[in-house]
Amino acid sequence: MGAVPVLIHTTEQPASLKMFPSDFVWGVATAAYQIEGAVAEDGRGTSIWDTFSRTPGKVLNGDTGDVACDHYHRWREDLALLRDLGVGAYRFSIAWPRILPTGSGAPNAAGLDWYERLVEALLENGIQPWVTLYHWDLPQPLEAAGGWPERATADAFATYAEVVARRLGDRVHTWITLNEPWCSAFLGYHVGVHAPGRRDPRLGLAASHTLLLAHGRAVEALRSTIPGARVGIVLNPTHVEPASDADADLAAARRVDGYHNRWFLDPLYGRGYPVDMLDHFADQFAPPPDEDLDEIAAPTDFLGVNYYRPTIARADPTDTFLGAASVQRPDEAVTVMDWIVRPSGLRQLLVRLDRDYPVGSLAVTENGAAYADAPPVDGRLHDPERTLYIADHVAAVGQAVDDGVPVMAYFAWSLLDNFEWAQGFSNRFGLVYVDYATQRRILKDSGRWYRGLIAEQR
Ligand code: FCB
Repeated sequence: MGAVPVLIHTTEQPASLKMFPSDFVWGVATAAYQIEGAVAEDGRGTSIWDTFSRTPGKVLNGDTGDVACDHYHRWREDLALLRDLGVGAYRFSIAWPRILPTGSGAPNAAGLDWYERLVEALLENGIQPWVTLYHWDLPQPLEAAGGWPERATADAFATYAEVVARRLGDRVHTWITLNEPWCSAFLGYHVGVHAPGRRDPRLGLAASHTLLLAHGRAVEALRSTIPGARVGIVLNPTHVEPASDADADLAAARRVDGYHNRWFLDPLYGRGYPVDMLDHFADQFAPPPDEDLDEIAAPTDFLGVNYYRPTIARADPTDTFLGAASVQRPDEAVTVMDWIVRPSGLRQLLVRLDRDYPVGSLAVTENGAAYADAPPVDGRLHDPERTLYIADHVAAVGQAVDDGVPVMAYFAWSLLDNFEWAQGFSNRFGLVYVDYATQRRILKDSGRWYRGLIAEQR
């Protein structure tokens, strides 16, 4: 790659980017519960998201993933979309309850067969599968036994990882253990806005530790089952900026960084939990034994980064957990979800991760935006804001590459409009529009632009 990519914005042709390295991987990402539907088919067990989404008041408009994009039945059509986009890789997740319907015990052959067919078809079409083992759909029976705060869940996860690895390991090279354990732990067990919807800071912290342990054990299981596997974890680290230079805001920003970023990164890279945060959480979290930390620090090959927005932190004494709140600057653009749009935050984050941690290489495993798309007309959907969002973030990745950061891949979130967790189907992130009434798919202008970018970069 030569100089810093230069963006030229016009409405129809929002960006032209200088060349990335020829082996740079362009992809799109999805997650099982958000697209598959078919929740009661072929022996699939129940997950915490089935239970949560069916609980009144938990998900906007009472939406559930029962049908979602019906990808379980329409995957061939969706594969054709991947081919049309020209992606080199497809990141998807495997639904644990399709493989082990109760979380443990005998594998469900139909579930394994389904993912095997998908993997085979991807490979036949020259698309690398990037498999995420856990994108938030914990089997309900494991939750009934205590869920992520319980150490036994880490053992169950390692067993599940081994079952999948045995079946797909000869064809899948790139493996991701967990997607965003921060969300699973804290949104699921502390804040309670995600499944399973429990609300206790101690549980959130305990869950974060078991998730990290589960990751370490799964790395071990993958490596011992698949020699040469490329293994990583996906986090949602954020670029943190203090709201002002006031000491209290600087300290708050440091805590937010500790909680979102260092709490996961430090133990993953062999430093144990950050001391300032152990002090901060002293009443709620007991430092775990060294053996756990050794397992968590199992060497990985890459770090996946999901980036959507930065965090601007100020001190907030009313927040008993962290003493911090996040704010927005009035002049900064936001998406329809009120998420700050700041591409430079991605560049800064990638630079920092490479500087502070021995990451091996980095992959942007999710990046994208929800905007209030107007309905399609005559088979076209104009979504210039999403195109600009993605183009500007791709440019920021290019700048990080020029800074010398070893970024090897970029995945747009998401292939399809889909079930956006607690927001249900209200927020659309797709490069492809989904008409949920008919399941018709329409490539949005942003998808056309991304297709053009990939072709240009090839
Ligand atoms: C990430 C999730 C992904 C999607 C995006 C918008 O936190 O990993 O499933 O919902 O946010």
